[in-house]
Amino acid sequence: MSEKLWAGRFKEKTAKIVETFTSSIDVDRRLYAYDIQGSIAHCKTLAKAGIISAKEAGELAAGLKKIKQEIDAQTFHYHDALEDIHTHIESRLAEIVGNVAQKLHTARSRNDQVALDVRLYLRDTVASIIQLLGQLQKVVVHVAKSHIKTVLPGYTHLQRAQPVLLAHHLMAYYEMFARDTERLQDCLARINVMPLGSAALAGTPHPIDRKYTAELLGFKKVSANSMDSVADRDFMIEFLSAASICMMHLSRLSEELIIWSSTEFSFIELPDAFATGSSIMPQKKNPDVAELVRGKTGRVFGNLMAMLTLMKSLPLSYNRDMQEDKALLFDAADILSACVEIIVQLLPKIKFNKTNMQAAAGEGYLNATDMADYLVTKGMPFREAHHCVGQIVSYAVRNRKEIHALSLAELQQFSPHIEAEIFDFLTTQQMIDRRTTIGGTATRAVKAAIKTAEKKLKNS
Ligand code: ARG
Repeated sequence: MSEKLWAGRFKEKTAKIVETFTSSIDVDRRLYAYDIQGSIAHCKTLAKAGIISAKEAGELAAGLKKIKQEIDAQTFHYHDALEDIHTHIESRLAEIVGNVAQKLHTARSRNDQVALDVRLYLRDTVASIIQLLGQLQKVVVHVAKSHIKTVLPGYTHLQRAQPVLLAHHLMAYYEMFARDTERLQDCLARINVMPLGSAALAGTPHPIDRKYTAELLGFKKVSANSMDSVADRDFMIEFLSAASICMMHLSRLSEELIIWSSTEFSFIELPDAFATGSSIMPQKKNPDVAELVRGKTGRVFGNLMAMLTLMKSLPLSYNRDMQEDKALLFDAADILSACVEIIVQLLPKIKFNKTNMQAAAGEGYLNATDMADYLVTKGMPFREAHHCVGQIVSYAVRNRKEIHALSLAELQQFSPHIEAEIFDFLTTQQMIDRRTTIGGTATRAVKAAIKTAEKKLKNS
């Protein structure tokens, strides 16, 4: 059973330490279902080419299905000596179907086999992450919709800048997650290419129909160059890059949840079920979920860097270094899925403290720009208006008042253009609702953005 597939030319047994060192079974065993799916398609391709009989193909496929059941049922035995999942399955097949198992690897190498397996895995995984991101976008839109009247300060440099609707703030994340989805869809097109038949690196002399294999496995395309097919991992790098960008977005959202839940901000309250306490400080309610999403982001970035570094100096075609790719890939995909899933559950349970948000939006001279805009409507050039309002802000700061708390007479000392209407003009709601251009924070514009998003999500 543990006879090596490649033992023919070797006189000495492999050292135990080498077996352990080179084994990848602990990582790649999760590819088993894809490996078996690929092998069954390969049997059919061999039979179609007349390389094995239909009967033999049937026996091989039945044996492979039995192995799938064994692995599903966790009765399958693993050994380091068998290196990887491909070898494990082939060895077990020999035990089940006998000599005919020796024909399965005709016109195939583990190099194109592993390339196929990871492509099958990633195709499924990306499709399921796209689904999760669809749920996330729906949740974001849903929460945004219920906060079309909630106002908070918008920030730049983490300084209060201008008031915005909470719905507008949340819809910014909708846009990010929509682009993340598009990036993954783009990347799917390049994952969905069938490498089998490239064999070790040069292709195969056996007359197999690669398009038929692709059809059986639901691939859109057959890879065009056998060396590229076994040497290339850019489709993984592309995924890791898309995953990193999406994690960066999740991390920024998490960062905001962490800040907003602090006593200093008190903009939100996290649900008890999604927060944790401190073992020493009884009063603490910590935003660990958001912190871990932020923390795990670093791991995904690291995996992208590790994969780029892994590939950068490899001569064509396959090199064993590439075995390290799977741990990085699986880790990133697992983290991304878990993080999207937990944010989907967390977001709708957050309690937004509307009163505190509204109060914060009314303090800190957030209407200074609008005051300048007002003077512009009275014919003052913007630079001059900016300077004039700067002086008003300085006066207001000295008097510990907001601009709108100054009297008309005080305001008119700075410009005779200022009239009583200014007080309505400077209310938070009016400031928000004047920003009606596409993409602005006016209630009307945000409602339109939500409607567009809902339509897009319905059709996706
Ligand atoms: N376990 C190997 C990997 O993941 C499979 C391919 C092995 N090919 C080889 N020529 N040793 O990369």
